Amino acid sequence: MTLREIHAQTRRCRRCHLHKTRLNVVPGEGSSNAKVMFVGEAPGAEEDKSGRPFVGRSGELLTEMLEEIGLQRESVFITSVLKCRPPRNRTPLVSEIEACIPYLHRQIEAINPRIIVLLGGVAISSVIGPWKLSDAHGRFYEHDGRTFFMTYHPAAALRFPKIRTVMRSDMQALREELSMSGG
Ligand code: URA
Repeated sequence: MTLREIHAQTRRCRRCHLHKTRLNVVPGEGSSNAKVMFVGEAPGAEEDKSGRPFVGRSGELLTEMLEEIGLQRESVFITSVLKCRPPRNRTPLVSEIEACIPYLHRQIEAINPRIIVLLGGVAISSVIGPWKLSDAHGRFYEHDGRTFFMTYHPAAALRFPKIRTVMRSDMQALREELSMSGG
């Protein structure tokens, strides 16, 4: 299935009740040949309004951190576990994650990225299982024949300067791995 087809499916989706409160579906954006894919938690208010991932304050920080390691936003693929905003940005319910995660798996198949970066605890537990973020961050992890890299969510990095510092150093580890594996 192509990315375009997957994204059309998400826009018609009524697999959970979030379709009733969303303004727009936020399937994700970026290159369909991306070597690196970033997976957040769920769209927030700005994303819900615009239909684009990571365009609010967390998104600005993520974009800045990408540029710091020599990645342009357009050259990677950016998405979240949930494609629709939970009311008042509450944490996604397990039932919502279960309903929505097939779209992320289809996106991974379609893009076939070299590395999938999981941003924060919800992305990590939804995709590879429960890890303590303090142990998980900065690590590469092989799972289901794919390479994952785990780090903090930029929203946490925005709130806590110490996490921001740790996330920046995780991103440097990602840069090194990318340069070793040929860009
Ligand atoms: N946080 C996320 O996890 N995803 C977005 O798209 C925006 C903020």
